[in-house]
Amino acid sequence: MKYINIKHPDQVVSFAQAVTTGLGRDRGLFFPETLPVIGDMDSLLKTSFVERSVEILSHFVGDAFERKTLEEMVSRAFNFPVKVAAVENNVFALELFHGPSLAFKDFGARFLAECLSHLSSRPTTILTATSGDTGAAVAHAFFEQTDIRVVILYPEGRVSQFQEKLFCTLGKNIETFAVRSDFDACQAMVKQAFEDQQIRTSIHLNSANSINIGRLLAQVCYYFEAVAQLPQHDRTVVSVPSGNFGNLTAGLIAQAMGLPIQRFIAATNANDTVPRYFENNRWSPNPTQATLTNAMDISEPNNFARIQWLFKNSPEALHSVIQPHSVSDTQTRELLSGLYESNYIAEPHTALAYGALKTSLQDNELGLFLGTAHPAKFSEIIETETGEAISIPPEFESLIEQPLLSEVIEPDFDLIKDRLLGANAFN
Ligand SMILES: Cc1ncc(COP(=O)(O)O)c(C=O)c1O
Repeated sequence: MKYINIKHPDQVVSFAQAVTTGLGRDRGLFFPETLPVIGDMDSLLKTSFVERSVEILSHFVGDAFERKTLEEMVSRAFNFPVKVAAVENNVFALELFHGPSLAFKDFGARFLAECLSHLSSRPTTILTATSGDTGAAVAHAFFEQTDIRVVILYPEGRVSQFQEKLFCTLGKNIETFAVRSDFDACQAMVKQAFEDQQIRTSIHLNSANSINIGRLLAQVCYYFEAVAQLPQHDRTVVSVPSGNFGNLTAGLIAQAMGLPIQRFIAATNANDTVPRYFENNRWSPNPTQATLTNAMDISEPNNFARIQWLFKNSPEALHSVIQPHSVSDTQTRELLSGLYESNYIAEPHTALAYGALKTSLQDNELGLFLGTAHPAKFSEIIETETGEAISIPPEFESLIEQPLLSEVIEPDFDLIKDRLLGANAFN
């Protein structure tokens, strides 16, 4: 399988190159040259999650790994459950938060860590921007990995306390910076570092954001698992809480491979660049707004370019498969308490996806919304809305006492550059 830089389609690379470099020339994103179509879907859906994921990923990794190695990598990366929970008669939640950092990002980050441990031939700095969950997933996936230094930028005060503790207390090869700005500013600094000639010649940088195609491909696997666990239905609608649109891109790839999903709902918060784009065909990001669903506070979603590439920039094709829907904070609060009254505890991102699903789900359809983070990560909001205290899973309790090791900085690229080029965790 080859990968195309969608900004400069003349740049075509192998899976190993796409994953180890992260971004293509001129910050272009990589995308598979062709998408494999699964011949016998019914048989594939009958296999176990790990076995099926190996089969799916084998199409994408090509000859980068022996089959046996890929099996070992996937078994190690996906060593926690994916659960489908019934919420209403025809509505289900895909719970993707039972991994080590309690968020869906564990799938992509852990598979990427496996890939890099096999493919990197030199010390690598993983530079990543996070609006919350990526940081925790990446930090845990790469913690103590030899020859890997992880540098994480996040918007100060815009991630929950538990989220911050999850990735800013590890130390060793994990360095964290609390940036006095929003997520877009963090992401812009990461992109600038990838462009910077001096940084590029001095250290080997990689990104573990959903910019990296390796991460995205791992996410394709759980859409198959969802369909395997759901009651059989020919009209399945999937609602994806979207910020950077990586998760939705993975779902669309699964659908293009033949997975029977009728349509997707791209659920956003007030950062509604995509819903507005669908209305008037104009890409006009507003300044990013802080919302309850902080991991989705993104007004310039990186992965949307991949979605447009997949649909060959055809607005008709986009509209036929994706329906965007923007949900306000007030609605999210109501959804969260409504779900609680129906005996399902959801954190805000998950509740938002549920709400967006319900706006258009028909009686003859089967609805699935993605549960992207564990309720314990947003316990403060849930407690305020429902009165119920959400306890942190016992294995995480000791974290709360640990000090934060982050450096608080202004959104100053030169400072980050200095840190990247300065003394680092390789020595
Ligand atoms: C809990 C949660 N939900 C949803 C999202 C949005 O996912 P994506 O950026 O892939 O659209 C994120 C991303 O950080 C997240 O952490």
